[in-house]
Amino acid sequence: MTLRIIENAAARKLGPYRMQEVLSHAAAQTAYRMITACPRYAPTPLRALDRVAANAGLAAVWYKDESGRFGIGSFKALGGAYAVARLLQRRVAARLGHEVGVADLVRGGLRDITRTITVTCATDGNHGRSVAAGAQVFGCRCVIFLHRDVSAGREEAIRAFGAEIVRVDGNYDDSVHAATRAAEEHGWEIVSDTSWPGYVDVPRDVMQGYTVMLIEALQQLQTAGARRPTHVFVQGGVGGLAAAVCAHLWEEMGSEGPITVVVEPERADCLYQSALAGRPAPASGDLSTVMAGLSCGEVSTEAWRILCAGARFFVTIDDAPAIAAMRLLASGGAATERIVAGESATAGLAALLAIAPETMLRQQLALGPDSSILLIGSEGATDPALYRELVGDAAGA
Ligand SMILES: Cc1ncc(COP(=O)(O)O)c(C=O)c1O
Repeated sequence: MTLRIIENAAARKLGPYRMQEVLSHAAAQTAYRMITACPRYAPTPLRALDRVAANAGLAAVWYKDESGRFGIGSFKALGGAYAVARLLQRRVAARLGHEVGVADLVRGGLRDITRTITVTCATDGNHGRSVAAGAQVFGCRCVIFLHRDVSAGREEAIRAFGAEIVRVDGNYDDSVHAATRAAEEHGWEIVSDTSWPGYVDVPRDVMQGYTVMLIEALQQLQTAGARRPTHVFVQGGVGGLAAAVCAHLWEEMGSEGPITVVVEPERADCLYQSALAGRPAPASGDLSTVMAGLSCGEVSTEAWRILCAGARFFVTIDDAPAIAAMRLLASGGAATERIVAGESATAGLAALLAIAPETMLRQQLALGPDSSILLIGSEGATDPALYRELVGDAAGA
């Protein structure tokens, strides 16, 4: 298999975290209060991959299993829906001249205002599901743009939340551009998980929602009496997830923050290419990969601001090891329990499994018997048919 790794020299020594303008613990507390007040809220489990740790000669490998998040099946449930709530709060407050709480939105007394607002975004599935769920709960209209490769199953799951669907004959980036054009034309509100110059507020809220996962993980490690991570292996699409993880742990742990390793599909390597270029750069490939959530050609500029300063390694892998990691988790070969991980959830584990046995790479990444690794299991079987096809008998099916 092809494995590419580059080191970002700028992140060799982490100084104090200074990117509070983008993501901060103060804003994370607001997100945590709002999200945990939701009646359906429950923290997701942090699973110990003891067998992986033992085989790889590492102290611990932790897997934050987002498969059950809000019944939506991925960490994205924390971001899009939260950003819809924040956006509606801002718009309603501007019309009424006073602040409104999320509970006011949920109760429905503000529907006369919220139903005049349309939120929209492009998605490969998971983000759109979260935005659609938020629109349904908080009472606004929702139009979701899907590119040609998004499966019918994922489309149905979004439609189930009452969203209208527009299909775009192109890739993910084409669908982003189509959603942007439509929003300009109709005066809709874009709730995107990616940012670009001049469009930062909503994507910052999206990423801030993700940090609730890190608050939980740190609490769970403490409860388990375990040490904080020395390394995080996290998969990258536009970089929002990786930036949330990197920023939160960096602000929490300062110069002792973990080594962040960002992992992407070989042909959707915009973060890797940006690290090579030292500035946002497009993916070098055609974005084709089974890891649908990671199939992105352009970085989120706000995420990149954090990653270019704080992420130490950028790695690309091809599809086969990611699928092998899904099968390993499904078979019970990684931990004492079987774990359901979708095709975009395992790039971090796959990269760790590829790197750990290689002496030179182990040294380069400072991996050893004292290392404690945090992985983000970012989705469950969000496309059940594809999951069955890829994992099949490994899941005992
Ligand atoms: C399951 C899953 N994991 C990881 C990612 C990557 O997140 P980001 O695009 O913020 O880098 C996505 C994005 O859609 C996803 O759906």
